Amino acid sequence: MTSKMRCVRSLMKAAALANVPRHIEHFSKFSPSPLSMKQFLDFGSTNACERTSFVFLRQELPVRLSNIMKEINLLPDKLLATPSVQLVQTWYIQSLMEILEFLDKNPDEQRVLETFVEVLEAIRNRHNEVVPTMAQGVIEYKEAFTQQDPVTNHNIQYFLDRFYTSRISIRMLINQHTLVFNGSTNPAHPNTIGCIDSKCDVTEVARDAYESAKLLCEQYYLGAPELELRQINANSIREPIYISYIPSHLYHMLFELFKNSMRATIENHEASRALPPIKVMIALGGEDLSIKMSDRGGGVPFRKIERLFSYMYSTAPRPSADDKHRAPLAGFGYGLPITRLYARYFQGDLQLHSMEGYGTDAVIHLKVLSTDSVERLPVFNKSALRHYKLTLEADDWCIPSKEPLDLAVHRTGK
Ligand SMILES: Nc1ncnc2c1ncn2[C@@H]1O[C@H](COP(=O)(O)OP(=O)(O)O)[C@@H](O)[C@H]1O
Ligand SMILES: [Mg+2]
Repeated sequence: MTSKMRCVRSLMKAAALANVPRHIEHFSKFSPSPLSMKQFLDFGSTNACERTSFVFLRQELPVRLSNIMKEINLLPDKLLATPSVQLVQTWYIQSLMEILEFLDKNPDEQRVLETFVEVLEAIRNRHNEVVPTMAQGVIEYKEAFTQQDPVTNHNIQYFLDRFYTSRISIRMLINQHTLVFNGSTNPAHPNTIGCIDSKCDVTEVARDAYESAKLLCEQYYLGAPELELRQINANSIREPIYISYIPSHLYHMLFELFKNSMRATIENHEASRALPPIKVMIALGGEDLSIKMSDRGGGVPFRKIERLFSYMYSTAPRPSADDKHRAPLAGFGYGLPITRLYARYFQGDLQLHSMEGYGTDAVIHLKVLSTDSVERLPVFNKSALRHYKLTLEADDWCIPSKEPLDLAVHRTGK
């Protein structure tokens, strides 16, 4: 390349970069369009049309990216300025620019469609490390500014829930497009469409997740509790339990829950030899698929339950960064909050019921009908903005006094 050409290129790149805020402004005015599991399935099978998918995504991806980029900009300045958050921001800008390139491309050209798949794959790889990088940014911020106010903490929690949900959804769109249209079919799984399995065997996924957590647990503690699994299919007693779902999402959720239950069980039974088993109950009804995992790990005080879903909370020591060859069992505090986001992403949920002194039940609820499983997506609008502008107001419930009330004052006053 001649130096002149290089100069022209870098000028063009600078010009594109200068236009980014304008594009974000434009695309963030649109609301993301949530898709249902049924739409994902239909789209990947009966009427799989790469051209239509391309035309949809070159609009929808910038919309989802821009909506969340507006929220990144509302983070506290000191968090926004951390090197980690800056890095995440450059990834988002770069990816947005790459997709915008396709706005004026001809969807009828095969070459365009092929390049689009390549670009999406590159974007997916670029964003692989977003979660730990963002987490690192929050740690840097917390370490630099020790006195945090509750408003900032609330905002960070609010933001991360939305940011990670947005990321899950963008990866879902990218995975579906690249897997369905990269030309290869998956003969081992005829029921899979992209990353969705229209006959996802819930029990099998639960067993897989248990086995992996068990391996990990044994590395740390030289033992692991057994699994007791039961299932009830209310629709047909003999049939295994199948739903249309993304096996990798289900696996991720159950793996996190198993790790937590195993750690709690072992730490609560250090003295005794026999470990009580982890009991999993899977129930399929007409509307809900529920999975309950019960352990006898000693539970958590009720007061702390809400805190477990905070991105800053863990009772395990933080795993060291140089111990990379060994997957940590716990310690980032991201297991439960991210698991809940996955469950909520398709209108499900995760709830924890704990009895301190005994154990914990974690229940995942998912939608059975592929028409009910619709993406739950954040949208940047006035209500979202209001959350970030929230100011600390006085509590509207009395704060109990720490000192015992001196009733003698009232008695003498009579
Ligand atoms: N089944 C459980 N029994 C007791 N405590 C639990 C259980 N699950 C989670 N916890 C508590 O919640 C905390 C947060 O869990 P999680 O979000 O998975 O992060 P991590 O496992 O990395 O600490 C854990 O550190 C632990 O103190
Ligand atoms: Mg965990």
